[in-house]
Amino acid sequence: TVFKVAAIPGDGIGVDITEAAKEVLNKLAQCDGTFRFDFTTFDWSSKAYLERGWYMPEDAIATLKKHDAIYFGAVGWPSVPDHISLWNMILPIRKELNQYVNVRPTRILPGTKSPLVGCQKDPKQLDWIIVRENSEGEYAGQGGTTHGHENYAVATELAIFSYVGIERIMRFAFETAKQRPRKKLTMVTKSNAQRHGMVLWDKVFYTVAKEYEGVVEFDKMLVDAMTVRMVNRPDSLDVIVATNLHADILSDLAAALAGSIGIAPSSNLDPSRKYPSMFEPIHGSAPDIAGKGIANPLGAFWSAAEMVRWLGAGKLDAQADTLMQAIENVTVAGVKTRDLGGDRGTQEVTKAVLDQVERL
Ligand code: NAI
Ligand code: MG
Repeated sequence: TVFKVAAIPGDGIGVDITEAAKEVLNKLAQCDGTFRFDFTTFDWSSKAYLERGWYMPEDAIATLKKHDAIYFGAVGWPSVPDHISLWNMILPIRKELNQYVNVRPTRILPGTKSPLVGCQKDPKQLDWIIVRENSEGEYAGQGGTTHGHENYAVATELAIFSYVGIERIMRFAFETAKQRPRKKLTMVTKSNAQRHGMVLWDKVFYTVAKEYEGVVEFDKMLVDAMTVRMVNRPDSLDVIVATNLHADILSDLAAALAGSIGIAPSSNLDPSRKYPSMFEPIHGSAPDIAGKGIANPLGAFWSAAEMVRWLGAGKLDAQADTLMQAIENVTVAGVKTRDLGGDRGTQEVTKAVLDQVERL
């Protein structure tokens, strides 16, 4: 099988980690022999935007649709306002390709340390999947700013929640929880202060939950209290479902609690499989460490493993597991970047993972 993958490295460390991920994916395919990747790399980035005035060409979405999957690095650079870079690349791709689910697993990799005291004794206490609503909510892009004297400007940022949009993410979250050993789902809102959209979220949650009574254990949290629970009782959580904004924030926290934002993967999925899904580490372009060769590539490799799993649709799970095992062997051996307390560079960690893939 040949998988056509569109690679979009983007900016900053996105370029280094995408290159590394391509190497690892090619090695995995080569060692396996039953599948391979046909990568097409697109130079869509903030750097290119500054030179030519556009991020993606007019036919970008049509081009992406011709691929089986998209591998994304990161977009954003200090010389371009972040809302311009995000709204010209990552957000339109997610929306146009029906990627309404963003799956973000978090756990502590062996040989690495969580800042949580309890987890230092028992890393298994933190093992979560955050299911992020990826198409509407606070990132619907609706709203505006009044014109006139800027000191009197008024801006609105309209969050949009639809029954259909909420129901499909809830169903995905319950199905995800159902497949996990602990079968627990925690739904996060802020329905005490936000009295329209968040109240609808609660309502749809309990409606869908009726179908899973006795199968999935479920509960509800307010997002502020949720941050406390993540720190104080990580073992009480399994699958977490939240809105676009809330899950965005909670997943950065989750990654930090698991050791580093540099390890955290994400899958932007179109569950109908009509359009290609997109795989990317959750971190950004990290301008502060870009070009230094010290970015942690493990979030990119973990995302690559999730891409293999998705592309295989059940037939390449063993190969995805091999890649995860390779990553874990490398962290156990202490070959780690600085964010994980090590002293190795991106290339050394990549080389170590390549060696493990070959050995396994
Ligand atoms: P960031 O995730 O790029 O960096 C936050 C901190 O984590 C920095 O100190 C950075 O050095 C560190 N870090 C991130 N990834 C790392 C890795 N792989 N290894 C080691 N350390 C790592 O977030 P920030 O600084 O808020 O955003 C930078 C740019 O990235 C902005 O333009 C932002 O809009 C963009 N961004 C893009 C995303 C995307 O393309 N999906 C996601 C998040 C931010
Ligand atoms: Mg984020």
